[in-house]
Amino acid sequence: MNTENTNIVELCQLEVNFKIKQRFYEEYIKREKKIVRAVDKVSLHIKKSEILSLVGESGSGKTSTGRALLQLTPVTSGSVLFDGHPVEEKNKGYMKEFRKRAQMIFQDPYQSLNPRFTVFDIVTEPLLLTHSRATLAEKEVLALQALEFAGLRPAAEYLYRYPHELSGGQRQRVSIATCFIMSPDFIVADEPVSMLDASVRADILKLFVRMKEEKGTSFLFITHDLALAWLISDRVAIMYLGKIMESGPADIIAGGCLHPYSQALTSVLSIVGEQSRTKRIVLKDETPSPLHMPKGCRFHTRCPVSRENCRIEEPEYREIEPGHFIYCHYPGKIV
Ligand SMILES: Nc1ncnc2c1ncn2[C@@H]1O[C@H](COP(=O)(O)OP(=O)(O)OP(=O)(O)O)[C@@H](O)[C@H]1O
Ligand SMILES: [Mg+2]
Repeated sequence: MNTENTNIVELCQLEVNFKIKQRFYEEYIKREKKIVRAVDKVSLHIKKSEILSLVGESGSGKTSTGRALLQLTPVTSGSVLFDGHPVEEKNKGYMKEFRKRAQMIFQDPYQSLNPRFTVFDIVTEPLLLTHSRATLAEKEVLALQALEFAGLRPAAEYLYRYPHELSGGQRQRVSIATCFIMSPDFIVADEPVSMLDASVRADILKLFVRMKEEKGTSFLFITHDLALAWLISDRVAIMYLGKIMESGPADIIAGGCLHPYSQALTSVLSIVGEQSRTKRIVLKDETPSPLHMPKGCRFHTRCPVSRENCRIEEPEYREIEPGHFIYCHYPGKIV
């Protein structure tokens, strides 16, 4: 079957707002509402057997996008399609299948594992959904296979340990084994290696690539590290203040970005070869608060090439060349 152009995930105008609790006077007397638009009408697709990296600075809305996609955070508006099916809590029948096929790996391996459970308990917990009648011996076999795959070898030595008896890298491998035991089609990996040292990091990234190549697993790989995104992914999406600024093949990071924000981020990377290396672009001012979103293009307050129109009119997120999307009135190389 040719699955090349089939999407596993489609986000259509996804919006996630959070209401912020305020002081008594503002909340109950003035009745002012403060809303953070963490994800603002984001449209994205992830193909089968593809790693899409979602890159952006802290607070840009990456985690909120990943969690809303998996329905772990309420979606304010917009839709999520998984393998062509709408994903909604009210769609109970499909949600069970969705929970099996879509998994998440968290950033912090110290907090994501229950300290009172053994590795065996943690890794086999998802089997309650799929193999509820499996015997202990059958579960042990599956757990050992998953741990081996995740690089905990010999797996039997880890099976009845508790999380506090493992290193950070080993814990993250337990999280991966817990995902892997479900044979998921799709994983949201939220900064999965940012707390690990360089050698463990490389091994874990290789595991993701192996899952993609051998099992056809797709990933939404959330990171703030552009070089890592370039290294591991097929496509990238660059996020700023709740919006995707630019998305396209991962190669755009090495000199092909056309959005001023992406160019500023990539201008400091050493992967950009000497020939294509541009002068470092330093952005002015701080990132505005998402509670006071700038009018027009939300990047105009920091943009080195903004024009009058950018203060007034919000750009559309449009395709400027096949597979390359941009949110900018005046995309192009900054000279
Ligand atoms: N539960 C919540 N309640 C209120 N505001 C929230 C909540 N979760 C996130 N936010 C706000 O939404 C915005 C996006 O947060 P999010 O965690 O998605 O960012 P991020 O890109 O993952 O950042 P980081 O790289 O630091 O993890 C931030 O301004 C954050 O303060
Ligand atoms: Mg985050």
